Amino acid sequence: MRSRRAEVAAALAAANGAFVSGESIARRIGVSRTAVAKQVQGLRECGYRVESANRRGYRLVALPEETVPPEVERLVTDPFWNRFDGGVVTASTNDDCKRLARDGAPEGAVVVAAEQTAGRGRLGRQWISPRGGAYFSALLRPPVAPADAPPLALVCSLGIAAALEAAGAPVMLKWPNDVYLGWRKLGGVLLEMAAEADRVQWVVAGCGINVRRTPELAPEAASLDEVAPMRPAEVAAIALDGIAQAYREFVRAGFAGLVEQYERRHLLPGREVTVRDLAGGTVAHGEAMGVDGMGRLLVRTAEGPVPVVAGEVTLAPTGGER
Ligand code: BTN
Repeated sequence: MRSRRAEVAAALAAANGAFVSGESIARRIGVSRTAVAKQVQGLRECGYRVESANRRGYRLVALPEETVPPEVERLVTDPFWNRFDGGVVTASTNDDCKRLARDGAPEGAVVVAAEQTAGRGRLGRQWISPRGGAYFSALLRPPVAPADAPPLALVCSLGIAAALEAAGAPVMLKWPNDVYLGWRKLGGVLLEMAAEADRVQWVVAGCGINVRRTPELAPEAASLDEVAPMRPAEVAAIALDGIAQAYREFVRAGFAGLVEQYERRHLLPGREVTVRDLAGGTVAHGEAMGVDGMGRLLVRTAEGPVPVVAGEVTLAPTGGER
């Protein structure tokens, strides 16, 4: 069920720029006019431009550009996503979502923000998060053992890639969790989890996608506006829908059911790679063969094929890529 705020946003958007009375919105969603006025104020604080006029009601003049909760909630179509928290600015949506997870929030809760002041990437890196990107974290409670959870990074990045591709952006994947545009990084997934010995309690999948080129973005990074003009809020919503679809398949059949879709977009097969662990030690070096049914990267080394569960991949240069 949508939140009141998203219901009011939907009612305003449905009027297509015409005035709509507070009373008709109130009737439509079953609340008082005062409650509608309060939600309209909340929407304005999130970046919706809403005019109000005596006896005419409210008129939506402009939607927010950024990934703010009511707008992402209004645009998401998959009912798997059932709760939207966050705000205009937060430190890290992953930290907020982990708090929800520990407080017992159900699977399908989402935290979104237009801007993060302490966004985090993999391997302890910073994730610079100015306005103009899509930043969100999704709470999952997969019915699997901890050893079977790592492919979820691939599942989420695949869901994002499939959704962006359907929206006209020819994006690719780099094992384990990166979304690429050409040979440049467009986005990534940070997976964090808590588990008991034989059961995952929760997984928080944090996703960052560069949507508009802003001065803070590294020159070697890609942004979606190079190929598709979309609002960050739209990008977050379609990415969430893509993740829900891929996640359902993972829960039904494991990663094996998604290998073919992943490989179709995978940049690494055939390339010479070095996979390193957190400490920088080499885990495997050789030709990347592709991923297996457990989401492991198979590397053809001098000693034979090695399945790699986790690590950071660097490519031997052949020109063009980074
Ligand atoms: C990577 O290193 O490629 C993963 C980047 C993940 C960034 C996202 S932005 C939303 C969520 N909140 C965070 O602090 N990090 C993730």
